[in-house]
Amino acid sequence: MKVAVVGATGLVGTVMLKVLEERNFPLTELIPVASEKSVGKEITFKGKKFPIVSMDTAISMKPDIALFSAGGSTSLEHAPRFKEAGTTVIDNSSAWRMDPTIKLVVPEVNAHELSIDNKIIANPNCSTIQMVVVLKPLHDKYKIKRVVVSTYQSVTGTGVKAVEQLMNERKGIDGPKAYAYEIDLNVLPHIDVFTENGYTKEEIKMIKETNKIMSDDSIKVTATTVRIPVMGGHSESVNIEFENDFDLAEVRSILEKAPGVIVVDDVANLKYPMPKDAHEKDEVFVGRIRRDDSAPKALNLWIVADNLRKGAATNAVQIAEYLIQKELV
Ligand SMILES: NC(=O)c1ccc[n+]([C@@H]2O[C@H](COP(=O)([O-])OP(=O)(O)OC[C@H]3O[C@@H](n4cnc5c(N)ncnc54)[C@H](OP(=O)(O)O)[C@@H]3O)[C@@H](O)[C@H]2O)c1
Repeated sequence: MKVAVVGATGLVGTVMLKVLEERNFPLTELIPVASEKSVGKEITFKGKKFPIVSMDTAISMKPDIALFSAGGSTSLEHAPRFKEAGTTVIDNSSAWRMDPTIKLVVPEVNAHELSIDNKIIANPNCSTIQMVVVLKPLHDKYKIKRVVVSTYQSVTGTGVKAVEQLMNERKGIDGPKAYAYEIDLNVLPHIDVFTENGYTKEEIKMIKETNKIMSDDSIKVTATTVRIPVMGGHSESVNIEFENDFDLAEVRSILEKAPGVIVVDDVANLKYPMPKDAHEKDEVFVGRIRRDDSAPKALNLWIVADNLRKGAATNAVQIAEYLIQKELV
């Protein structure tokens, strides 16, 4: 299995390499790719050094799988070229997600949709991934009517430049800016660009991607996405209204059994999910599970995951593992 990691020097790419290493992914050849400025630099994988190669060199090596995390425009331009070379591309950008011919996959929810014909596969938005992993088993049991989500998103979701902005601000250094305003000691109700209806693209991604991954357009979703000066992962306050009534103990038990989910919900002992604890973990953590007493058949939850892991790298690697296991690559 020849695997190209495109964007290998970036935040997601670096975690991708770590996840491939940790999970002992069955690769025989690693092909790290980044922009022209990085070609010739080296990355370390399983104690060995690998030179970064250009996109053209990587395509000529005909990898079996290419894990892309190099931005939307790079993906739009180069993913089809890998596909032409016979490579299956798993893409982390938003470029292909809403293309009706492309599968948008969270393995715990809809890996069964994949077939050998899917040569470009989209990895959903980080905030959407962690939410649908929790929504899916509850939807199967009680049928979700409506979801209201507010996010508290880590600066690592914006890439290397944003982490540098936060660190520089903490040291009083005036460096390059990834955001319109200071992020340290601040909260920005603004992720991605604003659209005509007053929502941001991040909010629209959460709405549309949820419907696509769950294969159910009847689920109404509304979102407010917010950037906070945190590193370890994204948090979400989620209010869910169901068609059918539920039992709180049963909800907890469903989530305890759900694949990829860990329930951390013991408020008497001050146990609830936090980004510090989710950092570098592959699972999605859920807590603060309680009835919404202001509405019938409604539930409140708090969901936390490492956006660079389950929100990006881990999810992409899990898709690749599924393809190999089912001989779809
Ligand atoms: N951060 C997250 O939580 C997250 C979650 C889900 C999805 N994503 C998506 O994943 C992608 C990468 O995000 P990131 O946070 O890792 O960004 P990042 O830290 O800024 O890294 C970007 C990577 O892309 C490479 N790159 C840029 N232009 C390229 C080109 N023309 N050809 C080849 N490589 C190129 C960069 O190489 P150089 O080092 O050579 O510039 C670098 O390796 C984005 O599309 C983002 O939306 C991010």
